[in-house]
Parts: sequence; structure tokens; C-alpha cells
Amino acid sequence: MSPTSAVIVTGGASGIGRASAEAVAAQGRAVAVWDLNADGAIAAAQEIANVHGVATFGLGIDVTKTDELTAAVDASRKVVGPIGALVHAAGTVRRQSIGDLDDEGWDFVLNVNLRAFPMLVQAMHADLVAAEGAAVVGIASIEGWVGNASIPAYCASKAGMLGAVRSMADRLGPDGIRVNAICPGFIETAMLGITLNMPGVRQRFEESSVLKRIGQPSEIGEPAAFLLSDKASFITGQSIIVDGGVLATA
Ligand code: NAI
Repeated sequence: MSPTSAVIVTGGASGIGRASAEAVAAQGRAVAVWDLNADGAIAAAQEIANVHGVATFGLGIDVTKTDELTAAVDASRKVVGPIGALVHAAGTVRRQSIGDLDDEGWDFVLNVNLRAFPMLVQAMHADLVAAEGAAVVGIASIEGWVGNASIPAYCASKAGMLGAVRSMADRLGPDGIRVNAICPGFIETAMLGITLNMPGVRQRFEESSVLKRIGQPSEIGEPAAFLLSDKASFITGQSIIVDGGVLATA
């Protein structure tokens, strides 16, 4: 039977997080939508409840404030019930090359994209152990596989997530908790929007995909919901590239 426990989705106000929240709600699972953008999180939670008829909870939170995570899990559980899954889609980017990046820049990117993921899992550990078919998914990136001179902290954070996924899968497998990552290619969201508006970039990104297009957030949300479902019950410690074939020909 597919897990019925609630799902926490970070970065759930927008883009890939929002699409992941929609996809798990469509499977009938309750959702806690967490985001730095409190209004966006609350609005997304309300809209998802209206459309899918599941319990939802919208919470404004900075996931890098790790001492607030346990209280946030407790507050979420009170509204959406037992929690058994996570999608960590909160993410950020700093366009600074080696030479320009200082300690603050490294910390800013690594804390959101990488460090928050295992810290979230730690805050949820007791819930995950108690849940049937518990699973977590981190949204990494194809930039975790290839170098990009203009965003080294982002690339390091996403490559680091893949190492964290394998280590957490090893530690948590005996507890019945699966841990995986998705590495999206170019997806039409607010984060990519600024880059897509630069001259020639949209066309270059479209050309780089063997499908000759940018992906939609739901094309990541659906694989995330799949990885959290019992259809993926023997998949753990993996990173799945969902990029329309960009890396197939890179
Ligand atoms: P987005 O900008 O639409 O969504 C990111 C969300 O994360 C925003 O709602 C933002 O408020 C939230 N967030 C940022 N820092 C936070 C913090 N400290 N605490 C809580 N929430 C925070 O961007 P998108 O594209 O949906 O990004 C989602 C994830 O997908 C990110 O990890 C990103 O790196 C990754 N990704 C995106 C790709 C793309 O082409 N859009 C490609 C590969 C990976």
C-alpha cells in the first residue's frame, strides 16, 4: 500500500517545490508547505487544499535556521498529521566566481542547498522512523555533475547533496527510510527566470536538451512524488537526472 503519511516540502511556495507539493497532494497525501516566503507558503497550502481536498499547512521559515526545524516539524504534524516524507526544494544561487566568492557567499549557498537537507532529516528522524514507507528527496541539479565557472558554490552544494544522499541512505536504510535526489536540467521557474531573460540564453538552453525545450516544474514534481511512493520502494541512495537529455550529449 502506498504511504499515506504527510509530506513536508521546503521551497513549496514556488517552482519545483510547489509542483512537488501538488504532485503528492494529487496522490492524496497531506502537505506542509514551508518557504522563506511566508505569504507564498500560506497561499500555496490553501490553493492545494482547495484543489486536492487534503490537509495542508503553510509555514514561513528559513530552513537554514536549524534550531527552528524541530518546532516547525511539531507545528506541521499538529495540522497535517503523522509525517513520513520530505522534498527539500528550497534553494538559492549566488552568481560569483572563484575570486569573488567570500565566506558569506559560500555559507549563504551551502547552508540552504546542502546543510539544511540533512538537518531537516535529523529534525524529522523520529517521525520518519515511525512512518510506513518513509522517504526523502533532495532537489539537486545537473550542475552537481558538470562545472560552471560562474556559480561554483551552487555546483559544490549540488554535488555535495549527492554525497549526503548516499551517506544518509546508508545510515537510514536499516530504519526503513529511503533517501534519493533528483537532478533537474533547465526548468521554467522564478530561479531560472533571470538567466532565461539574458540575450540568447533561452535558445541555448533549449538547444542543449535533446527534446529541444525547457522543462516544466511538474516534470520534476511528478518524479519527486514517484520517489516518495511505494512504486519506488527499492530505490535508495540514487540521484536521478531529469533534464530532457542535456547531459546525454554534453
Ligand atoms: P524557485 O525560486 O521558484 O523556488 C525556490 C524556493 O525556495 C523559493 O520559493 C524560495 O523562497 C525558497 N527558499 C530559498 N531560500 C530558502 C530558505 N532559506 N528557507 C526556505 N525557503 C527558501 O526556484 P526553483 O527553480 O523551483 O528551485 C527549486 C530547487 O530546484 C532549487 O534547489 C534549485 O537549485 C533546484 N533546481 C532548479 C533548476 C531550474 O532550472 N529551475 C535546475 C536544477 C535545480
